[in-house]
Amino acid sequence: MEFLRWPSCELAPGLANSASRTTLTRGVHYGENRCLADGNRSNLQSRKKRGKMTDIGKVQGAPGTRAADLRAKLQDRTARVGVIGLGYVGLPLALLCAKAGFHATGFDIDPRKTEKLERGESYIHHIPAASIAEEVKKKRFQATNDFTRLEAMNAIIICVPTPLDKHREPDMSFVLNTAKMVSAHLQAGQLIVLESTTYPGTTDEEMLSILESATLKCPVSPYTTDGSTVTAPEAKEPDFFLAFSPEREDPGNKNFQTQQVPKIVGGVNASSALAAQALYQSIFERTHLVSSSRAAEMTKLLENIYRCVNIALVNELKLLCMRMDIDIWEVIAAAKTKPFGFNAFYPGPGLGGHCIPVDPFYLTWKAREYEFPTRFIELAGEINTAMPHHVVNHLAAALGERGKTLPGARILVLGAAYKKDIDDVRESPALKIIELLGAHGALVDYHDPFVPRLGKMRKYDFGLQSIALTAETLRAHDCTLIVTDHSAVDYDMVVTESPLVVDTRNATSRVAHHRDKIVPC
Ligand SMILES: NC(=O)c1ccc[n+]([C@@H]2O[C@H](COP(=O)([O-])OP(=O)(O)OC[C@H]3O[C@@H](n4cnc5c(N)ncnc54)[C@H](O)[C@@H]3O)[C@@H](O)[C@H]2O)c1
Repeated sequence: MEFLRWPSCELAPGLANSASRTTLTRGVHYGENRCLADGNRSNLQSRKKRGKMTDIGKVQGAPGTRAADLRAKLQDRTARVGVIGLGYVGLPLALLCAKAGFHATGFDIDPRKTEKLERGESYIHHIPAASIAEEVKKKRFQATNDFTRLEAMNAIIICVPTPLDKHREPDMSFVLNTAKMVSAHLQAGQLIVLESTTYPGTTDEEMLSILESATLKCPVSPYTTDGSTVTAPEAKEPDFFLAFSPEREDPGNKNFQTQQVPKIVGGVNASSALAAQALYQSIFERTHLVSSSRAAEMTKLLENIYRCVNIALVNELKLLCMRMDIDIWEVIAAAKTKPFGFNAFYPGPGLGGHCIPVDPFYLTWKAREYEFPTRFIELAGEINTAMPHHVVNHLAAALGERGKTLPGARILVLGAAYKKDIDDVRESPALKIIELLGAHGALVDYHDPFVPRLGKMRKYDFGLQSIALTAETLRAHDCTLIVTDHSAVDYDMVVTESPLVVDTRNATSRVAHHRDKIVPC
């Protein structure tokens, strides 16, 4: 079998990094139909003489082919990029594409979102309206629910939800419906990239079978990669390109900007991988190729399962430490001084967010097809989902020690978002805790500076509004339960004014007075 060495694409000006510079010195730049670096030219010729490589002019990806044309457009940013699903992941990504110089079009089925965006308004707390308005004004970003406009895109990135259904099994309806929508408008030469977190096989089995038609094919074909270059057997050029690249967004994390987080890319074949690499090299500071869409899908799951399992570990150790009267936070801070072999994870009231409580079970579900029990995931899930129950039991015990009972007690839940300084309540442990408190007869209020109301959600409908955090409201409740440690909250005042504070986040660690009122949990 003949093998070709495929170079990575040249980086856009200002985004050069060492990995791709190395690649360029070794490879061919297909994007501009020219330029074998001298060293590589002789290298290539001698390899051709030895019969190990084919003439690159005759095969997929060579200058003048559909793959090369697409990569050239992606490199010089004349490509039009569409982003489907304008939520926590898709909206910042679409804006990043626009800021990188592409004409970006955001697609969403929710007309309220697209209309707001077209007016230059935001509906996500940490994305300022000004950054949207700026791109709209420059005509670099548009939002629409007219999916016929997909036909004009060169690259289409899919960022739709991948939740669990009521049986805690993958709900693939959003991804599959989107694939059908794309399929109806698919054009030869387009690149489709799935970013939604999912189980291995989604892209090259389920997406591909929907996207392929009698006339448009993208055959799965093996290739190898060292992270930046690709080696592949000679194959017919695909009609379109399909890849998976996981989103690694960490909402609210001010230490990393989205474009600084390396982008993992895996294609269903070599030319798809290279096309997706060219797209992301124009937007992100670093890309890392893997040898298939499945490896890219699994990479994202490994990252999230690693977090889920380690959080379960510290949650379990916290419960033991509480029994042994040891402060788990002090222990973690001490262990963290070790410069190698230890990564700190922190206990809390339970897992939250769209990812960590959900994604591991995508793998558990897929693993069943292989008759493989994912025991770590199941155990971690068991420990983490028990945490809200632990919090409520502990709170009831703390009230009991003060001669009160949970039924009829007034509880102020401080924080509804699943983590600090963001407005996302999806899977937030606060929701389960509010439900449990209500079921025990407690009278619950909440305060969250980022979440003005807790209206109808997929699973809950509390009909609650965030109340003001004042000395009066704190005094009017029997207990303040800290579920989310938002930075803007005055914990000094919380402890001073509350009769009792149950703290699941160590948010009161710096409060020096009235420590007898604080119950760590
Ligand atoms: N939120 C995060 O921090 C995060 C981080 C990493 C990965 N992810 C993954 O990214 C994916 C998207 O997550 P999110 O948090 O952005 O979700 P989200 O719910 O915030 O946004 C999804 C958007 O998709 C839209 N949508 C749904 N179906 C659609 C369709 N058929 N066509 C067009 N639009 C449609 C919805 O209206 C919504 O605006 C998920 O797979 C998630 O697991 C999320």
